[in-house]
Amino acid sequence: MKKFLAFLFIASTLFATADEGMWIPMLIKKYNEKDMQSKGMRISAEDIYDINNASLKDAIVIFGGGCTGEIVSDQGLLFTNHHCGYSQIQSHSSLEFNYLEKGFWAKNQKEELSNKGLTVTLLQRMEEVTDQVLEGVSDEMSSAKREEVISENIKKIVKNATEGTHYTATVKPFYYGNQYFLYVNEIFKDIRLVGAPPSSIGKFGGDTDNWMWPRHTGDFTLFRIYTGPDGKPAEYAEDNIPYKPKKHIPISIKGYEKDDFTFVFGYPGRTQQFLTSHAVRMKVEHENPIAINLRTERLNIIKRYMAQDEGTAIQYAAKSASIANGWKKWIGENNGLKRLNTIENKIKLEEEFQNWADSNDELKAKYGGLITAFKETYEALSPYQLSYQYYIESAYSIEAFRYALGFRRLAHYANNKESREEDVKQIADDLKKGAEGFFKNYQIEIDREIFQFLIKSFDTQTLVERPKALKNFTAKYKGNYEKACNDLYNKSIFASKEKMIPFLENFSKKSNKKLQNDPIYKLSVDLVNYYIDEIIPAMSIHENSLDSLYRIYNKALMEMQTEKTFYPDANSTLRVTYGKVDTYFPKDGIKYDHFTTLDGVMEKENLGLDDYKVDPKLKELWRSKDYGQYADKDGTMHVCFAASNHTTGGNSGSPVLNADGHLIGINFDRNWEGTMSDVQYDPEMCRNISVDIRYCLFVIDKLAGAKHLIDEMTIIK
Ligand code: ARG
Ligand code: GLU
Repeated sequence: MKKFLAFLFIASTLFATADEGMWIPMLIKKYNEKDMQSKGMRISAEDIYDINNASLKDAIVIFGGGCTGEIVSDQGLLFTNHHCGYSQIQSHSSLEFNYLEKGFWAKNQKEELSNKGLTVTLLQRMEEVTDQVLEGVSDEMSSAKREEVISENIKKIVKNATEGTHYTATVKPFYYGNQYFLYVNEIFKDIRLVGAPPSSIGKFGGDTDNWMWPRHTGDFTLFRIYTGPDGKPAEYAEDNIPYKPKKHIPISIKGYEKDDFTFVFGYPGRTQQFLTSHAVRMKVEHENPIAINLRTERLNIIKRYMAQDEGTAIQYAAKSASIANGWKKWIGENNGLKRLNTIENKIKLEEEFQNWADSNDELKAKYGGLITAFKETYEALSPYQLSYQYYIESAYSIEAFRYALGFRRLAHYANNKESREEDVKQIADDLKKGAEGFFKNYQIEIDREIFQFLIKSFDTQTLVERPKALKNFTAKYKGNYEKACNDLYNKSIFASKEKMIPFLENFSKKSNKKLQNDPIYKLSVDLVNYYIDEIIPAMSIHENSLDSLYRIYNKALMEMQTEKTFYPDANSTLRVTYGKVDTYFPKDGIKYDHFTTLDGVMEKENLGLDDYKVDPKLKELWRSKDYGQYADKDGTMHVCFAASNHTTGGNSGSPVLNADGHLIGINFDRNWEGTMSDVQYDPEMCRNISVDIRYCLFVIDKLAGAKHLIDEMTIIK
């Protein structure tokens, strides 16, 4: 039986039943297999993770930097989310070939599109290395010394694990450094776009429905992994061949019922279940509100421009989606943390902990001061942390400002007497290539408006100390932000491709003066330097203290609650989480069902919003009920389903598997009422949202006419 952290909250309304937890694949045998089987799973822990035989883990990848994907054919075909492949789809799109709008389907492998910089990472094996990492570490050591010893040890472990191979390796801390695991990976570099539905399917509901249930998004894309002719990872080359995986996941089109066992296998990014009350308070009362408020207006500005012009809509599609994504999540998270009384519950836990720690002299010596130390450290950290948050969400979010920061290296080299003119030219040349990319998706009018709003907000807020550079700058303009904006944007090279390109083409060490005097460059660099020189070092000192406090706290909690099985917070490593297909009650008197159908897509269309446009061909198929083998046994086309798997950012694109380990859906979101689960999971309310795999196959087969892709997959009927 698993027991859960929520169990700690004595006065809490929730008693944990199930479903919380992100488990380590290698340890499932020990901790979870029985429980999973008692809940309906028909496969074994070895089917999920095995280093001697092919297992499901050989089909799970990190897609790009932050998503998960799963291999579904013996030719390296993989599914991830549409929103995970979004920037790749966008990069191949233009007004003429608008794949974002129309979708993209390669008719054969030759037509699949390569994506510079995109990688897929496949885990070879993992191993516990706590003892090696902590060798030579003692409790008496300063935290700096401790860090140093640990990082030396890790270097050795990584070297041993990868020497003479083409693998890479990382060592990751668990439970704040009470435990360490080594991950040995293979990284593939030739990943091609195979198919993407039109955004009206892949992004149906857009930001209106994002983080919400009931949902009707066909959030999937297909890519393919290519290797060199020798089967090893290689950079893109025409004669590369499709990857032959050790394992690909069979796809079930049998559907599911409410309460059916499911598990999700993927790469959750970050959860923070152990945060103390002080940290949650800072988040709920300050960090989240700062970001929410600044992004609300920033999004309003961008949306206004996007609505006026189709070209702008393409340019800012990915940017606005990503700004809106965090914005909406934090609103939901704050609601959830307030509803669950998380701060009060954490305070109670801390009181309980203090009583326990005070209960005998030995505990008192080790843990008696911990809670007070947390309080003091958060008090000391808070001004810096909030200043940093304000900066990130304001000045750093001005596009030209952030762009300018990328020129610091050029300035540094140009300024250095020793550096060679040709090296400087090389850097300028690289920046010129980057400039094409930047200006392709840049509208100066939008940035100007955002500048005025953000700089004014930063300048007039009273929560944090303003950086001197900001004070000096705005004092000059006496509150006339429009004039400040005109001065900067009219004179700077950073807001104009016409000025930037020739500047870089003719760049020599002498040009450095112009760069240094550029008004956007100057202000942007002055601001960032304040953070680099004054704020971040102060933050790091307190964060390091917090790291060791949490490490001790985590260990102490394990001593205090001996019958509880703890799971480590997500840390972008491969995890298994399991639950069941389930309904929920968002509010008194309202019950949400566990699945949605294509009928709901058409209902939403009637609301007339842009986010609810329907592809005409999809409508035709719906009218004629031409669902083929992909229809549910109730005769409808199921689109999405909700389940109680504990997931977070990074789990996008993760396979949702049934009791037999067959793919039934692709995870892409959580529900609004459950977004606080990174800090506190609530089994009553937290649901992961997945697109039904039958809907994906239906779109591929019937709408795109790409039956050849279905034929590649292993379909279980
Ligand atoms: N909320 C999901 C996630 O965190 C989906 C985000 C993409 N979709 C969007 N409409 N912005 O990544
Ligand atoms: N959409 C998220 C992602 O990109 C997954 C949803 C979540 O945060 O649970 O990873």
